[in-house]
Formats: sequence, C-alpha cells, structure tokens
Amino acid sequence: MDWQERAAAIDEAFADVDRRSAFEIPDGVCYLDGNSLGAMPRSAREAIEVAVAEEWATGLIRSWNTADWIHLPQRVGDRIGQLIGAPAGTTIVADSTSLNLYKAMQAAVRLRGGRTVIVTDVDNFPTDLYIIDRVARQRGIEVRAVMKRDIRAALDDEVAVLTLTHVDYRTSEMADMTALTRAAHDVGALVVWDLAHSAGAVPVDLTAANADFAVGCGYKFLNGGPGAPAFLYAAPRHVGMVQQPLEGWMGHASPFAFERSYRPAADVTQFLVGTPPVLAMRALEGALTVFDGVDVRRLHAKSLAMARLFHELADEALVGRGFRVASQRDSASRGSHVALAHPQGYALVQALIGRGIIGDFRRPDVLRFGFAPLYNGADDVVRLVEALVDIIDRGDYDSTLRESAVV
Ligand SMILES: Cc1ncc(COP(=O)(O)O)c(C=O)c1O
Repeated sequence: MDWQERAAAIDEAFADVDRRSAFEIPDGVCYLDGNSLGAMPRSAREAIEVAVAEEWATGLIRSWNTADWIHLPQRVGDRIGQLIGAPAGTTIVADSTSLNLYKAMQAAVRLRGGRTVIVTDVDNFPTDLYIIDRVARQRGIEVRAVMKRDIRAALDDEVAVLTLTHVDYRTSEMADMTALTRAAHDVGALVVWDLAHSAGAVPVDLTAANADFAVGCGYKFLNGGPGAPAFLYAAPRHVGMVQQPLEGWMGHASPFAFERSYRPAADVTQFLVGTPPVLAMRALEGALTVFDGVDVRRLHAKSLAMARLFHELADEALVGRGFRVASQRDSASRGSHVALAHPQGYALVQALIGRGIIGDFRRPDVLRFGFAPLYNGADDVVRLVEALVDIIDRGDYDSTLRESAVV
C-alpha cells in the first residue's frame, strides 16, 4: 500500500470520531498545533454569539441568574470532568493552569504538613517548575527534581507531594498515572497531575487512578480558545480538609452574604478566587459540545494509529534527510503529538507554515506536531511528511532564520 492508501485506511476505520466539519479551519490549512491552541469549533463561535448578543447586551446583569453565569465554573468543570474520570462536583474551571497548580500544590503540601520534599520531573513544563519552586520556598521545603526514570526512587517518607505532567510537552511520553499515584501513596505522599496535554486527547480516569489533585488547560485539546480558562480537580476525600492559599469571595461558602471573614465553600468551589471570565467560559462550554457522543478512547486510538503511520513514514523518508524522531513511539505510553529534531528546526517549521501546514518549534531543535483526532486525519500526516521531504530536497527553507516569535 502506498502512503495515501495507508492513510485512507486509518481515516476510514475511525470515521466515527471524525468531527472535522464541526470546526472552522481555513481552506488549504493543515492544522497540526491543537496541542498548543485547539482549532475553533463552530459551537464555540455560536456560544460566544449568544453570550454577547442575548446574555450580555440584552440580559445584562440579570444573566448571572437567567443564563446561570454564576455556575459556569461548576457547569463547565463537570463537562470536563466527564473527559477525565472526575465525578460531578469535583472539577471547577477557573484562572490559568499555572494559578491552579499553585493553589493545588499549596493545598496538597499543607495536607502533608511536616514533610519536607516535593518530587517532580526535571523535564517538567517550565511553568510547573517555577510554581513548584516558589511553593517550596514559601513553605520552607525542598524540591527533588529528577529524571523520569528516577521518580520512584525519589519517593520516600519525607515526600509531601509528587507532581508531574501526565503527557510530556516535548516527547509526548505518557506517565503511568495509576502506578505512580500508588507509589506516592505508598510512602504517604499526595499527587498533583498536570493534564495540559491529556484532557480531551488521552483517556484519563482520575477516580480509578485515585489521584489527589489535577489541573489542566482549556485551550489545547479542549479547544476552548486562546487563553481559555483552566480546570482544577480535587478528590472528594480532600475537600473539607483542604485549605487553598488564595481565599477570594468566589470560593467563600456564601459569597453574597458579604461576611467579613472567609469561610471556604464545602466543595471544590473553594478553589475559585474571583469573578469568572464569562465570555471565555461560554466559548469553552460551547467548544466542549464537540465531544458529545465521542469516546476519548476512540480518539486516542485514532491518534495512536496516526502516530504509528507518522513514525513509519519518518523512518522511511525523513531520518535519511537529517531528522531524528524525537517523540515516544510506544503506543502504550504516548499522548497525542509527535516530534522531530533537526538542527534547522525553526526554519523548517516556518517553511511548513508558508505551505499552510501549521506546527510549532520548541527549543533547542524540536519540530512538534499535534494530532487532534477530532479534526486531524491520517491524510494530514501524509501531507506533512511529503512537505518535509519536498522542502529538504529543494532546500526550500531559509537557513538564516532565527527563532523570533513567541509561540
Ligand atoms: C504542561 C503544561 N502546563 C501548563 C501550561 C501553561 O498553562 P497556563 O498558561 O494556562 O498557565 C502549559 C502550556 O503549554 C503546559 O504545556
């Protein structure tokens, strides 16, 4: 079978999860950056239009009640909860992933008062490393940042919290959530998971894994739009014991009683701080409807098939052209993006963008391509590899280009 035939067979086998027509993607564009900013679902545009024209312009302040804006953090949180194995009432949408990580980390470390160490992956996403470091300094404890393979060995009875990103943002390697959570619990530690590259892309069952806390982004595979609010999960067993560090009125047990002192809400709502960004939440809420009737396990199976095809084509056609495969191959432990390394990575990504194929570059030399199986198909994989072959063979890239953009 040639490349196109192999791709067609995959796309046919997974036609049940193809939602490309539910997204607005410009003609001719092959969008492979849904792991950074998801494409726009038509339902997100519709939700914003209703929120602007009916709820804000017409309903005005009444919409806090009539459109139930006030419960958006819980309502949208519950919808995300369905994608990550979190029961209703355990997930809220608020703030950014960084801020939610701060709140969850502070809360988790307090729950293990007396313990002196936070363990994490030395290759964790930078915002995670910065936040972890700050939490440790504020609590007067230390950070043990180790290689992925050394995480279990780093767990002992000094450890308060293990915190990891579930799917690595560079290699797409997926951690074994259940096993690592168990290993941390075995030494009496808690676990905070960053699901930025997992929610909506890989099957996650926080309940089955017995996770303690989790956070993640709304703008990646959940397609909530640029700067979409993030989410936070807290296991029901901790709510009530837990104290988060940013005690704002929206996390109060009775915000509109305007009491002089803080009383935390009895549920995950206590992790809210201030007024929710309604328009952004409505966009995310609208976007999430594209997951209706879609099983994330099927989505992930499609993305694994696409990744297998990509790695095979890369071995066939790219490795001999100066590329190195830089992503996890093993289907048992991979997320939903792929990566190549090439000394001219930045220039090559720019050349691809010039041809309508949008991926991204991560220092020092990584070309990263997100497979969002709701709207990407194996045909995109073939288009990507063919374009890279052509760009290299023709020398059709500007090798003097240096990274300048922010994303
Ligand atoms: C693993 C991970 N965590 C956190 C973030 C950043 O989250 P935020 O900007 O919402 O704070 C990212 C962004 O790409 C990420 O990849």
